[in-house]
Amino acid sequence: MIVMNGKQLSEKVLDEVLLDQQKVLSTYGRPAGLAVIMVGDNPASKVYVANKIKACNFVGFYSITHQLVESTNETELLSLINKLNNDDTIDGILVQLPLPKHINELKVINAISPSKDVDGFHPINIGKMLIDDKTGFLPCTPYGILQILDEYKIDVKGKDVVIVGRSNIVGKPISIMLIQRSATVQVCNSNTKNINEKLQIADIIIAATGVPNLIKYEDVKEGVIIIDVGINRLDGKLCGDVDYNNVSKKASYITPVPGGVGPMTIASLIKNTYKSYQLKKEGIYER
Ligand code: GUN
Repeated sequence: MIVMNGKQLSEKVLDEVLLDQQKVLSTYGRPAGLAVIMVGDNPASKVYVANKIKACNFVGFYSITHQLVESTNETELLSLINKLNNDDTIDGILVQLPLPKHINELKVINAISPSKDVDGFHPINIGKMLIDDKTGFLPCTPYGILQILDEYKIDVKGKDVVIVGRSNIVGKPISIMLIQRSATVQVCNSNTKNINEKLQIADIIIAATGVPNLIKYEDVKEGVIIIDVGINRLDGKLCGDVDYNNVSKKASYITPVPGGVGPMTIASLIKNTYKSYQLKKEGIYER
């Protein structure tokens, strides 16, 4: 059984960006810039945002965090996004989700310039992903999963992949990316009938449900490859959607929690921001 070390891979990715940023800095005249917007103070979001800023600092990006109060209205948020869309020091705009209930998430995502949408959530970037137009930005968590698969030389072509969870951020986009790579993909959700039968035939399982330890030893087949996207808190400890201790006895490859997919989500955000910066500096992707 091989533990797929996302933490180590993320450090390699960040080192590469750091080196490249240092090389081009004097030519480009400014570092890549990321603006992060957070509305309210969801404790989990605070931790994620802090880790994103830490990664920006490490690679030498400029970053700015706009911490807005919970009562911020949609117009105020849209006006800030508009300002950042027109700010030439900013290559990436990230609005941390979830947003408070009184703000329409889709409207906010639509307001971000597709050329600065380093989260890859804008319909233009989702469309580009669907048709494999590489000028777009891939959503960070699925993009991180692809990099983990590549690092461990896992070819998904012809493999039976079962994804558990159909979210816009993970389940739906990773299904598209793996179809692009010629995998046979099933996307399950909490209404799926006979999910155990589907899990039993899976060569690769991607769990993104937010339910701690949902996938058990008896659900999976010998040699299965497990990608665990869950970040859950159980009895004060972080755990994934997969019962790691037992499932790892059957798996050929598995991502741990923490230290698996999580760090690669952040590394992908850094890669997307750097891509946006390079595209703009080379005049390829104008607003
Ligand atoms: N909330 C949970 N995951 C993400 C993410 O990848 N990006 C943003 N903006 N919000 C999130």
